Amino acid sequence: MIGYTLGSRRLTSMSDLDADEVDGILADGATLPALFYTDPGIAELEDDLIFRRAWQIVGVEPELRRPGDYFTTEIGGYGFTVPIVVLRDREMRLRAFVNICRHRANVVARGYGNRRTFQCDYHGWVYGLDGCLRAVPRSDEGGLPPFEELGLFPLPVDSWKGYVFVTLEEAEPLATALGELPRILEEQGFEFPFAAENVEEGFTYEREVRLDGGPSNWKTMHENNIECYHCPVLHKRSFSSMYKVDPAHYTHREFDRGIYHTTDYQDSVAEELGLKERGVRKEYQFYFLWPSMYLSGGVAELAYGGTFSRLWPDGVNAWRSETVRYRTPLDVEVNPEVAGRISEWWRLTLEEDRDAAGRVQKGLGSGLYSWGYTLAESERNMRHFYGLVWKALAPAFRT
Ligand code: FES
Ligand SMILES: [Fe+2]
Repeated sequence: MIGYTLGSRRLTSMSDLDADEVDGILADGATLPALFYTDPGIAELEDDLIFRRAWQIVGVEPELRRPGDYFTTEIGGYGFTVPIVVLRDREMRLRAFVNICRHRANVVARGYGNRRTFQCDYHGWVYGLDGCLRAVPRSDEGGLPPFEELGLFPLPVDSWKGYVFVTLEEAEPLATALGELPRILEEQGFEFPFAAENVEEGFTYEREVRLDGGPSNWKTMHENNIECYHCPVLHKRSFSSMYKVDPAHYTHREFDRGIYHTTDYQDSVAEELGLKERGVRKEYQFYFLWPSMYLSGGVAELAYGGTFSRLWPDGVNAWRSETVRYRTPLDVEVNPEVAGRISEWWRLTLEEDRDAAGRVQKGLGSGLYSWGYTLAESERNMRHFYGLVWKALAPAFRT
């Protein structure tokens, strides 16, 4: 039968999904139905049930150490993009605002830096670091409500171990959203380069942002990133040249709100990097926190600066991501020739992943694939991810 099917039924839209049937196929070790990756109705639900209410990693505390330090970014989903500005106010409080001028919707801050006030560069309205409207050119003409009603919209902001998080709607405290991640990171000996105890007074923490995107649903891309069953095949000459990817060395585990992986460099690479002498515990650490955050640790992090990434939907068939990297005092020097080879391996790995996810997306959208099956051990992370997606969306199907 042409089209999505569930059992003997044809699925043409989200309304054809039955929650008990989805429970059943997931319990059997199947993937989520293809419709989850192609249907605009599902994407809208994801906006409401996931992306508008998730805490999102946006920056680090040490880049906001002085009053007026700020950075800008966006929080997005399938059907919305909200520009935001995060800053340190005069009382040294962390604050976040919707970065939209209350006059005619230009952004009020761009990039990052330090400001005493934010003056919109369209008509010149001026906002304080507390978000209050301070001055409006020609305001004596009249026509405006009182300034108190025209401040920037504040957003919930919080931090943990130096990582700064913002959400559009606070559905739960940040600590709840982090789940077991803090405990897992401690256990793995994660370095926490931005935690107060590791931050150096005179060191400049400057963001280096890389924006990326690709031709697949956001979940298709995450699913690629959280399994390494594909590593020996898809990344024969990239990731697998750099790291041990066989099941004896590569570990992949779940925790309540996420997934983590660890492995070691291939022996020849470890030797070139001089890792033995450095006494490094785990050479590669990779963490995914539902629904959008990635952290990496181990040598990769120390050698190339503290890094985090965030990935979100950009339409049904596309995702966007922001990777932010900082040099930190914990960085270790590595031989530039080896470092160059490692960054080329990484470049190729990410390209192979993005392209594979794009090909998968075409298959999912073909109408000739209803769902697939996953291996019990090598793809256990996938099963966990499907569970997280379904846990978020299922209530909409049970009402
Ligand atoms: S849009 Fe900001 S001053 Fe007009
Ligand atoms: Fe990959």
